[in-house]
Amino acid sequence: MNGKDEEIVVEELQLKRVGCFKPSAAKYNNLGEIIFPSGYPENWINRLILGDNLYILKALLKDFRGKIKLIYIDPPFATEGNFSYKVQIKHSEKSKGGREEKEIMERAYKDKWGGTLSSFLTMLRKRLLIMKELLSNDGSIYIHIDYHSSHYVKVLMDEIFGPENFQREITWNTQALNVAGFKVQARNWIRASDTLLFYTKSDKFTFNKQFIPRDKTFIDKHYKKEDEKGRYRITRRGNKVYLGEDPGDPVTTVWNDILSFNYVAPANLEGEGYPTQKPEALLARIIEASSNEGDLIADFFCGSGTMAVAAEKLGRRWICCDLSRYGIHIARKRVLDIVELKGYKMKDYVRPFRPFMLQTLKDYQLAKLSDESVYENQDYVKILSNMLGITREESYAPFFYVKDTSIVYLNPPDTDLTKEHLQEIIVNSKKIADFNNLDINIWDISDNVYKIVEELIKQESMEIRIKKLPDDLVDNLMNETYRPKLYDIYACKIGLKVSDENKKVLIKLLNIDIEHNEFVNDKIKQKAKDYSDYIDYWTIDYDYNGKEFRPEWFSFKTRKRRSIELTSTHEYGASGEPTILIKIVDIFGNDYIRESNITIK
Ligand SMILES: C[S@@+](CC[C@H](N)C(=O)[O-])C[C@H]1O[C@@H](n2cnc3c(N)ncnc32)[C@H](O)[C@@H]1O
Repeated sequence: MNGKDEEIVVEELQLKRVGCFKPSAAKYNNLGEIIFPSGYPENWINRLILGDNLYILKALLKDFRGKIKLIYIDPPFATEGNFSYKVQIKHSEKSKGGREEKEIMERAYKDKWGGTLSSFLTMLRKRLLIMKELLSNDGSIYIHIDYHSSHYVKVLMDEIFGPENFQREITWNTQALNVAGFKVQARNWIRASDTLLFYTKSDKFTFNKQFIPRDKTFIDKHYKKEDEKGRYRITRRGNKVYLGEDPGDPVTTVWNDILSFNYVAPANLEGEGYPTQKPEALLARIIEASSNEGDLIADFFCGSGTMAVAAEKLGRRWICCDLSRYGIHIARKRVLDIVELKGYKMKDYVRPFRPFMLQTLKDYQLAKLSDESVYENQDYVKILSNMLGITREESYAPFFYVKDTSIVYLNPPDTDLTKEHLQEIIVNSKKIADFNNLDINIWDISDNVYKIVEELIKQESMEIRIKKLPDDLVDNLMNETYRPKLYDIYACKIGLKVSDENKKVLIKLLNIDIEHNEFVNDKIKQKAKDYSDYIDYWTIDYDYNGKEFRPEWFSFKTRKRRSIELTSTHEYGASGEPTILIKIVDIFGNDYIRESNITIK
C-alpha cells in the first residue's frame, strides 16, 4: 500500500487553550530580554499539548500542514510494560545506601498496544501518515526505537516516506563506558544500543553537519608542527589544517559520545524521574543538524519534554504533546525552570523562556467512548460503575449511584458542570434518599467550575465533593485489572488577605485535604510531615480575564529543589475588582483550582 495517497479517518477534535505562560514574573527581571533569533516571529507561542497524539495531529493539520521542519518521536517501544514514576515526598530521607527511598510508584504511561507488535505498528502507522502531512517539503523525521520493533518500523517508514527518503540508521550507544548491573549476566552479546531512523520528506532537506571536538590525544599526536599562524597538521591529501580551523571529527552514524541515563553524570544533572527520559544532548544534536534557529520542530511523544527544553535552548519554535498528564506537568516545569536546568554537555541557558501555551483536546473522552462503541448505548456507564464499585438502584434517576454512605452522580462526558446542572443534581439527589454526602464524578476540570460550585456547596447541608475521573480511564475501559483513582478537586484551602493601603494582596496556601484523594496511601501518610509535602506546584493569575489562565507567579518543586513557597504577594498598581485564579498540582500530578474576586480600593 502506498502511504502517500491514504487518508486517516479520525474524528476532528478542537484544541482548547487552557493556559498561557509568559516570563513576566519578577523572578525573570534580572535575566534580561527574551531572545528571539532571526526567523522566530515574536508573536509565535510554543505549544505543550495534553492528549492522544492521533487526535492532536489531526487537529494540527488545519494550521500546520507542511510547516514543521523537524519531527523527533520516541514512542513507547512495544515492550509490553507499564512505566512508573516515583512520587517524591519533600522530607523523605535518603536510605543508608544513598538512594532515595521509594515512596510509591505511580503509572506514568503504559506501553501496551493491544499486546501485539502488529497493533503497535498500526498505532504508529496512523500517526506517521499525518506527521508526513505536517512535515515541510525540506523537513526531516527521526524515530527513536530499539530492537523490539526497529526492523518492522524501518519497513513501515519505507512504505510511508519512500525508501528513497531513508537517509541513515543511527546507532546510539547507550552503554558507552562500561556494562554494569543485570545486563552483565546475559549469556549473549550485551545489548547496548537504541536506533534512530532518519528519513526526510524529499531529497532537499536541511542538514547542518555536526562535529565532535578533537580530543587531546588526537591534537597532541597530529598537531605537532607550528608556524606563525599556529599549530597545524597535514592531511592525507596534503592539505594544511590549522588547529583553530579544524571543525573536529564529523559525527558518524554511531553515537558513542552522548551518555545515556544509565550513567550517573547525565542522570544526576538532568533526570527528572520520568521513565525513559532522554538526554538533552541527544535531542540537541538532532535539532542542530536538521533545523535552523526559528524553525518549527515537534515531538508528538514528548514525555517529560526533553525536546521542548532542547528546542528552547537552541532557539527553535516547538510543539510537544503527550498523553500523560504527569509527563506534561514535568515538561511544563522544565521549561518554566529552564535557567536552573543544568544539562549534560549543554551550555547553560540564561535567558527567560519564550511564551508557551498549554492546550488540551476538547471532547476527547467523548470521542474515545464513541470510538469504542460504548457511548451511544451507555455501556460505558455499566463498565464504570463496576470499576468504581458503585451500585445503582432501579428507582434512581439515571447516573445516580450509591457507595457506602454517599450518593454518587456520574456526570456524562458531554455535559459541562454549569450552575443550573449542579442545582438540578442536588435537587434530584435529595429526592432519592437522605444521604449526607454527594460525590459528583466529572471527566474534566474547566476553569469556571470552581466559581460555579463554590457558593452552592457552601449553602448545602450535605457534603458535596467534586471528584475527577482519571485521564487514562477511557483507555482502560476494557482492562479488567485497572482500578481508577479519584480525588476531590476542591481539597486545597487558600487564605487571602487584601491590604488596601498599598493595594497589596497576600495569598497563602493553607492546606490540602487528602482524605478524599485515592492516590494517598498509608505509607505516604506516614512519610509526609505536613500538607506542603503533598503540593508540587502552584501558580497564580492575579488578573484572570475569565477566558484564559495567564499565570504571573509560580512556585514548584523539582527533583532537586524540594521546597515550595507557601505564600505569594502581589501589588496592584490601581484600584479595581480583579479576579484571582489559582491552580495547584499535587505530587501525583492532580490539578486543583480556586477562583476569588477581590476589591482593591
Ligand atoms: C519513551 S516515552 C518518551 C520520553 C521522552 N523522549 C523524554 O525524553 O521524556 C514515550 C511517551 O509516549 C507517550 N505516549 C504514548 N502513547 C501516546 C499517544 N497516543 N499520544 C501521545 N503520547 C503518547 C507516553 O505517555 C510516554 O510519555
